[in-house]
Amino acid sequence: MAIEMTVNGDVRRSMAEPMTPLIDVLRDEFHLTGAKPVCREGFCGACTVQVDGAPLVACLTPAGLAEGCEIRTIEGLSAGNGLNPLQAKLAEHDAVQCGMCFPGMVVTLTHFLAHTPHPSRDEVRAALTGNACRCTGYERIVAAALDAAGG
Ligand code: FES
Ligand code: FES
Repeated sequence: MAIEMTVNGDVRRSMAEPMTPLIDVLRDEFHLTGAKPVCREGFCGACTVQVDGAPLVACLTPAGLAEGCEIRTIEGLSAGNGLNPLQAKLAEHDAVQCGMCFPGMVVTLTHFLAHTPHPSRDEVRAALTGNACRCTGYERIVAAALDAAGG
């Protein structure tokens, strides 16, 4: 039986087994390769997508649980064909190096800033607890997030 979900506003159907990781359905069936399967153990956050508005690691989310859900991936977070304000600030602060962590970072921070429009530095750092970056040391990412929030 098909698993039906709405992905970035479009209704999509998958014939995957219900326990197939959502990250594999998104990447292999729907060709949305922004979310990255890095650790596949729920530790790095590079595969983070929004499921019904909440950030979840897609490597540990069974596709069957996405039935009927609204999924938003990094591909669905840009503003039209351009960068959204957070992405623009990340670029402006030169916060991206290899970029493996960034799809998850952007998904997490977008959700965080939507719910915490005037965060402190410590709150931004706490929000990124589940997103590991091996390149940047976080300072530029935190600065970009604070700048995007206008503070
Ligand atoms: S690949 Fe999912 S948390 Fe690392
Ligand atoms: S930019 Fe390389 S892991 Fe974060």
